[in-house]
Amino acid sequence: MSAPRRPREARLLARLVRGGLLLALLGQLAWSFRPSSSQALTADESLGRELYLASCSTCHGIDGAGTELGPSLRGAGPAAVHFVLSTGRMPLANPGDQPVRQAPAFSEREIAALVAYVRRLAPGGPEIPTIDPATGDLARGAQLYLDSCAACHGAGASGDSIGGGRIAPALDRATPLEIAEAVRIGPGTMPAFGERGLSPADLDAILAYLLWLRENGSRGGLQLGRVGAVAEGLVAIVVGLGLIVLVIRLTGARA
Ligand code: HEC
Ligand code: HEC
Repeated sequence: MSAPRRPREARLLARLVRGGLLLALLGQLAWSFRPSSSQALTADESLGRELYLASCSTCHGIDGAGTELGPSLRGAGPAAVHFVLSTGRMPLANPGDQPVRQAPAFSEREIAALVAYVRRLAPGGPEIPTIDPATGDLARGAQLYLDSCAACHGAGASGDSIGGGRIAPALDRATPLEIAEAVRIGPGTMPAFGERGLSPADLDAILAYLLWLRENGSRGGLQLGRVGAVAEGLVAIVVGLGLIVLVIRLTGARA
């Protein structure tokens, strides 16, 4: 009874097998042409990969997804990578420290290579901004700075302690590009300002104002290495106490 169906089943089976083989072949072909991450690295990206594996992967992970020592770099973006490297904030020596500005650990070429490799490894996030401080509106920049930045960095941009042991640094050392990057990415506890909050023209205005401030000095009295109110208070106490002690000793000697 079931005999007549056998040939049909056999044909069906044969067709299925042929179809399967074809699929497998196509799959194999597609697989060998897949975009392989190591295959297609440019020279820049390969240099970046070497540097990344040697100096960053222990904390940020070989795949950039982060470890308990450092955050994921997914979505950090080229602006953040360029900022942390050109200000010497990374590589961090100690995962618990607040990253601070210091001499960069890498040359400009190496920094560009790391930016290129991390862009490949962990895509997304803000691009390095295009700036033109020379076109910035100075008066508008002063107003925007007072509204958006002065609360933390101080009216004269000489930096301030913002509590929790964190410092909003003086703004006299960052290059205009680094300032623009900081604004877009919001390093550490600083908020990020997107283009909706501060347009590219607003950003150029702030840059123009900060550059003007550098040329035209501070309004906050003595500079004292621009460490801000805490240091100024300390100097007042030390100098003041010293004078009092001196006066007491002088008057005491005469009596
Ligand atoms: C000792 C561990 C350590 C090493 C090594 C290290 N990082 Fe970091 N990285 C951190 C920590 C911790 C933070 C978060 C710092 C903070 O803002 O408090 C961070 C933050 C960053 C950020 C900002 C992330 C964001 O979302 O804004 C970038 C980008 C970055 N690191 C890149 C690098 C690169 C590139 C290297 C290698 C050259 C590197 N780091 C080496 C620990 C490390
Ligand atoms: C809520 C406080 C806060 C506000 C508001 C703020 N910042 Fe910051 N800023 C910080 C902190 C904290 C850091 C240090 C971040 C770190 O740990 O790397 C910083 C770092 C920076 C740096 C890096 C300085 C350097 O020498 O490496 C720049 C530049 C900067 N801020 C510019 C600005 C500008 C411009 C604005 C206004 C548009 C602004 N900030 C608003 C807190 C703030």
